[in-house]
Amino acid sequence: MTKVLIATVKPFAKAAVDQIKTTLDKAGYETEFFEKYAAQDDLIEAVADADAMIVRSDKITAEVIGAAKKLKIVVRAGAGFDNVNLEAASANDVVVMNTPGQNSNAVAELALGMMVFQARNHFNGTSGSELKGKKLGIQAYGNVGRLVANIAKGFGMEIYAYDPFVARETMEAEIVNVCETVDELYSVSDYLSLHIPANDKTRKSINYDLLSKMKDGSVLVNTARKEVIDEDGLMKIMEEKTNFKYVSDIAPDNRLALEEKFDGRVFFTPKKMGAQTAEANINAGIAAAKQIIAYLEKGVATFKVN
Ligand code: 3PG
Repeated sequence: MTKVLIATVKPFAKAAVDQIKTTLDKAGYETEFFEKYAAQDDLIEAVADADAMIVRSDKITAEVIGAAKKLKIVVRAGAGFDNVNLEAASANDVVVMNTPGQNSNAVAELALGMMVFQARNHFNGTSGSELKGKKLGIQAYGNVGRLVANIAKGFGMEIYAYDPFVARETMEAEIVNVCETVDELYSVSDYLSLHIPANDKTRKSINYDLLSKMKDGSVLVNTARKEVIDEDGLMKIMEEKTNFKYVSDIAPDNRLALEEKFDGRVFFTPKKMGAQTAEANINAGIAAAKQIIAYLEKGVATFKVN
């Protein structure tokens, strides 16, 4: 019997778990939910007899892939696949897919929620400000960036975006001001929302030089990846621009130092929360299950990333 291991340190909502199981049951597959595991070694043990895996940000290293002798496919239920060692997967004939767009709305809503939270001084009872009329810069106009733009329009924000991979006409048709350079985006924004993936080109790309283009008083919102931030550069900017703020769904490694020094100007969720809604879990989880079935039964490889 084909076995699908759903390995999630951060479990899906109960409703999603039930629906993923039903989807795989109907295909005649065996499912095992391996949730909240304590150590990477436990994962390495659990993958031994899996034919397929559904994961979230779980670290699918070369060691994990090497230990999964029957593995044919890994689906990352979500967008970013920087947690999966693609080279090791390809070398072992394991297909890797993501489920783009399935959890985007949850992340987009959180990005706007974080902006409101910062604009209202972390709900501390003091007089804050409004999003209406402010300039929102969106770095990367993909599934999440686009939804952020749409929600922000409802707040009356003025939208700017930079994405060299999206046609100008597409953005202009959606009433988005197109920035020619990333510097231009950073210079114009009162709020800057990051929606870039973590890869060799983007790691530490949000550095001192780029952040120095931002206005003092502006807010950087990161619901993407902590790896894209150059933390030393961020620290320096926070020191120099005494009203610059940083809110993120992915706590940086220097979280404690930032919190200690810049009370009220930084905020980090205790755990990555962007995709933690029942709706996002159901959408991404079921899409992942269906993609596994389509691949194993018919060789359909849409959303293959390796
Ligand atoms: C993604 O890449 O899809 C999001 O960052 C969500 O990640 P998560 O599944 O670990 O919450």
